[in-house]
Order: sequence, then structure tokens, then C-alpha cells
Amino acid sequence: MKITKSKVLKQKPDFSKLGFGKYFTDHMLVMEYENGAWNEPEIVPYASFPMAPATNVLHYAQSIFEGAKAYKNDEGKITVFRIDDNFVRMNNSAKRMCMPQFDAAVVKSALFELLKLESEWIPTRPGTALYIRPFMFANEEVLGVHASKKYVFCIILSPVGSYYAHGLEPTKILVEDELVRAFIGGTGEAKCSGNYACSLLGGEKANALGYDQALWLDGKEHKYVEEVGSMNIFFVIGDEVVTPQLVGSILPGITRKSCLEVLKKYGYKASERRISIEEVVKAYEDGTLKECFGTGTAAVISPVGVIGYKGKDMIVNGGKMGEITAFLYDKITGIQQEKYADEFGWVTQIN
Ligand code: COI
Repeated sequence: MKITKSKVLKQKPDFSKLGFGKYFTDHMLVMEYENGAWNEPEIVPYASFPMAPATNVLHYAQSIFEGAKAYKNDEGKITVFRIDDNFVRMNNSAKRMCMPQFDAAVVKSALFELLKLESEWIPTRPGTALYIRPFMFANEEVLGVHASKKYVFCIILSPVGSYYAHGLEPTKILVEDELVRAFIGGTGEAKCSGNYACSLLGGEKANALGYDQALWLDGKEHKYVEEVGSMNIFFVIGDEVVTPQLVGSILPGITRKSCLEVLKKYGYKASERRISIEEVVKAYEDGTLKECFGTGTAAVISPVGVIGYKGKDMIVNGGKMGEITAFLYDKITGIQQEKYADEFGWVTQIN
């Protein structure tokens, strides 16, 4: 693989104050698609893309992305978490968006080279990681509405801390019952950029009212809970830990799936099923809504302390992180950061 090293290396940020997605490493991986095939991936200095005004991604949004994380221990051992699942999901997203499939094995080994090159950028404090952002966009210069014939696949890396500025403090989410993020038959389960653009107004409405993010309901009846702006959602109702079933309009989250696997292995009653917002309200009213939390690569396991709905706030678990949320946070970050053995086979060492 061709590697062109940057002549000037950037100054690294203070790893104790990273926030999310603000700093980018010195290099990136790029692979281009034209004439029906992908070229070899290359590692090049992190830089802007030259782009013609008629480049079709700017007009018709053929664009998908992923989020994964790499970790490093004190001996310099670098690991990634469930990266194969990211590439499978990305190829599924590509299919939905009429974009070409890529060879995950080729991209994975190129990513490992990039991670080794950028090893100094991997933060090691608890709660930090090197965020891996693969993305693919249409790159043909043409205005007709059809699938592009040219694409760019790229991976950039960003040292990150907590996704939310308030860290592990419980988030406040607002049920959005007018706007819609996704619907059956649409692109909701693909990780395409348009889904996130579509969610911004709901997020801004929530922010204006003092909440962190919107909780989306289904697009047909505005009745069933789907997901939050940047995470999947779980509720603990009585002795059941429940997350909305993947009906086609919900992102099949990798942290979501990991939580379900941990819960089942450790003897919790974990279900994937449709859950209406009225069921959540009823559980709150009768005292059986014990916990609520979001899951995502960026968000990790984020406790939800307040659910706003129809002008009222439901305060969950006294606004504090609950026991099952804390168990999952500890277990999943513990496996990622080697506090616990990798009992599920989720971690790959790359050096
Ligand atoms: C992730 O959790 O990695 C995501 O892609 C969510 C978000 C930051 C858009």
C-alpha cells in the first residue's frame, strides 16, 4: 500500500480536554472508485478534497458513514472494537444508497496500517479513544439524478473524550411527536448522511427547550419509540430491559447489539420489541420505569435522566444513572479498555 507521510506533523491537543470530533490526526486513508472498480487504498496527509460545484454528493446526498473506536494500553498495544460489524453495516448502507460494495478485508488491513502510523494520537485515559470515521461519498461531476459512477471512500481519525459536554451526567431528551426522522421503506436503518440532516431540526427544537437531543417516534403513527439523535435507546421497565425492535427505520447499532448480548449472558431479561411512548408514560406513572439510557459508538452508554413529553418532564431514577446502565457502561468500556477479559471475542489487536 502506498503511504505518503505528512511533512509537518500537527501539534497534539491536550488529551485531558478532548471533547468529541474536534481534532484530526496527521493522515487519512483514501480509496477511489471509477470505471466500475475500487483503486488500491492509500494513506495520505489529512487534507481537503478538491471538489467541483457540480459534484453530485453536494446535490443529491449519496453519502454514508460509520463510527468505530481504537484503544491503546500502557504497553502500546492497539485494539479495535467490533470493526468487522462496522464494515458489514457500511456495505449494507452502500447497498441501500446505490453505492458500490467494497472489500472489507482490504479496507480493514489499510485501516490497521493507518492506526499504527497514528499510534501517538490514541489517547489512553479512561473514557477516551481514537474515533474512526469511515465515510463514502458520490464524486461524479454531473447533475442528472442517478447513482454516481465515481466515489471516494475515506477514513479519518479523531482523538475523542465524551460525546456530551456534560460527560456521564444523565442527558435530557425530548420526545419529538411532530417531525419525523425515518419511516419503513425509507433509509432509516442505513447510516446515510441524509438521516442526520433530517434529524437536525428536531435536535434544535429540543436544544431550544433545554434538552440535549430529540427522541424520535415512528414515522407512520408517531406512537412507537425509535431512537435518539445520535444513539439507540433502552428502557428498564420492571425487570425487563427493552429496546425498540429493528423494524427497518432504526439504526442497527453495534453498541446496542453488544448491550443485548451482555444482558442476555448475565441473566437479565432483555427484549427487542415495539414500545409505544404511551407505555413509557404509563410505566413512569405506575413507578415501573426504572432506568433509561442511550447507546452508540460515540455516546457509549449514556444515562437519560429526563424524558420530556407533551410539556411534562419524566424524571427517570431521580435523574441519576441507574444500576443496569452503570453495569453495562462498566462492562462494555471495561472490555474495550482491557479492564475485563474479552469474553465475547469483540476485540482485535492490531500490533
Ligand atoms: C457514532 O456513534 O459513532 C455515530 O456515528 C453517531 C453520531 C456521532 C453521528
